Amino acid sequence: MNEANLGRSRVLNLLLKPAGWAMESRFRRLLHNPDRIVKAADVRSGQTVLEVGSGTGFFTPSAARLIGSSGKLIAMEPLSSYAERLREKAEVESLQNVEVVCRDALETGLANESVDRVLLFGVLPFPSLPLEKLLPEMHRVLKSEGILALWQFPADGWVPGSIGRSGMFSHLARNKGVHLFRRT
Ligand SMILES: C[S@@+](CC[C@H](N)C(=O)[O-])C[C@H]1O[C@@H](n2cnc3c(N)ncnc32)[C@H](O)[C@@H]1O
Repeated sequence: MNEANLGRSRVLNLLLKPAGWAMESRFRRLLHNPDRIVKAADVRSGQTVLEVGSGTGFFTPSAARLIGSSGKLIAMEPLSSYAERLREKAEVESLQNVEVVCRDALETGLANESVDRVLLFGVLPFPSLPLEKLLPEMHRVLKSEGILALWQFPADGWVPGSIGRSGMFSHLARNKGVHLFRRT
């Protein structure tokens, strides 16, 4: 599905427009500390990080602060309403290292081996992010020593095993609920 169609997808909009408030709720923040989760993904100062399906940016400020001014966070989100809210948030919070890209992550448009970390936080499983298309694209854009980090709520299910069996990533560790996979 191309970027424009994805942004207009009725299923996606029906599922997600009313969910916008829940993604930013205080209750969620109490339940899941975004600083702690991003740190568990081994995000470091100076890195280039791709956040897939950033939504309204529950994790984005935490990741941007860890990366710092010498790094860059590419927050990729196909729904323009979410992307716009995230741009406003980045401006209000002076997150100058965040680039919000309104685009389908199945075709990121990023260069080969250009990112240090891929964050798949709160996005899988999702009908418009099929693993058979997402994983080859993430493998292409990650540097050879790059890490793909998966955090799901509810935890586990079949996704971590499927990533491990894809042949593109090997499971390194599970750290505070975050699965870390090395690009193979
Ligand atoms: C459940 S929300 C989670 C948002 C955010 N990661 C969070 O945890 O608050 C899933 C997000 O994935 C995005 N998404 C869905 N399909 C996508 C795709 N093909 N490429 C990039 N993002 C996508 C949706 O638009 C939505 O913002």
